[in-house]
Amino acid sequence: MANATVAAYAPGRVELLGNHTDYNEGLVLAAAIDRGLTVRGSTVHGSISLESASMGSATISLSDLKPQKGETRWANYALGVAAELIARGIPLEGFCAQIEGDLPRGNGLSSSAAFEVATALLVLELCHSHLPRIEIAKVCQRAEHTFVGVQSGLLDQVTSIFGQADHVVCFDARSEEVRVIPFPPDLALIVAQSNTPRELADGKYNERRRETAAAARALNVRALRDVSMTDLESRPNMDATLRRRATHVVGENERVARAIEALARDDAADFGALMNASHESSRTNFQNSTPQLDLLVDLARSLPGVFGSRLTGGGFGGATVTLCRRDKSDDIAARLRDAPQTGSAVARSVFLCNVADGARLIPL
Ligand code: GLA
Repeated sequence: MANATVAAYAPGRVELLGNHTDYNEGLVLAAAIDRGLTVRGSTVHGSISLESASMGSATISLSDLKPQKGETRWANYALGVAAELIARGIPLEGFCAQIEGDLPRGNGLSSSAAFEVATALLVLELCHSHLPRIEIAKVCQRAEHTFVGVQSGLLDQVTSIFGQADHVVCFDARSEEVRVIPFPPDLALIVAQSNTPRELADGKYNERRRETAAAARALNVRALRDVSMTDLESRPNMDATLRRRATHVVGENERVARAIEALARDDAADFGALMNASHESSRTNFQNSTPQLDLLVDLARSLPGVFGSRLTGGGFGGATVTLCRRDKSDDIAARLRDAPQTGSAVARSVFLCNVADGARLIPL
């Protein structure tokens, strides 16, 4: 590969509250974490060449830029971004890039968004072009829709781009307003991977997206953002599955609003209780948890110093996020890691994460 001339880094994220609300025009609280992905590259003419120690290599001609099948499917995140940037008039002639990082793939921590966002920053810089940050997020989201086939919302890309150290990102998916709120220094976040990869769950994700859209139609509103719990209660004849899906999304929007107040009061116990309620709603209403995720959540909640624990991201596998006292976090992480594996034996990897800055160009 030609010597790299540009390098871009994008972090993964944890979703703290606001599960499956983004594509329902709702509210989300999330944070960029101190693990991510770096893409180093330079301009080449006529093709896109990608190289990664863990994923392999792929070279695709620009004249044949389309979603890949089989072994090089992993390249679709970068190829999709390239195609979307070209569609927006960015004068991309081709590039080669090396990808590396410490973000576990397919585990609900948005390794795909990190790959897309880092690629977008790299390509824009190579092309001496500029796009507003929210537009970069949308380019990456479109790549996910058109090249990957997941109808995801904007949460992952927005958090990876707008993340700020020691701050939580608050995203209103209707107005597209992004705010940051200080994350209390005496709290810590622990990620526990269930090691049941999310990759196979894409079909389920799209199904939930269709169900929530159907629920909005049944309730005669533009999006579930426009629905309250009282509205739901006044519609006893609604299809039971659609009602459960809607109850989750409506509840999540309410929980995000309450969590913002809890953060302002420095009330970790209330924030944690909202996380617990979120997981319970995932388990029963949205049915996007798994026995492994439930087990991890139960384990975390049994440990002193833990305020709350829930699945993070799309669900159907992936990871949990646990909010706890910082001064107890090493101990809690160790106990989560070492707890005897019962029931549906979970092969756990557990790590503490710091709330970190968002995507950026970095020195070579
Ligand atoms: C995935 C998607 C996001 C969001 C979450 C669930 O991470 O990429 O857009 O929908 O699931 O909240």
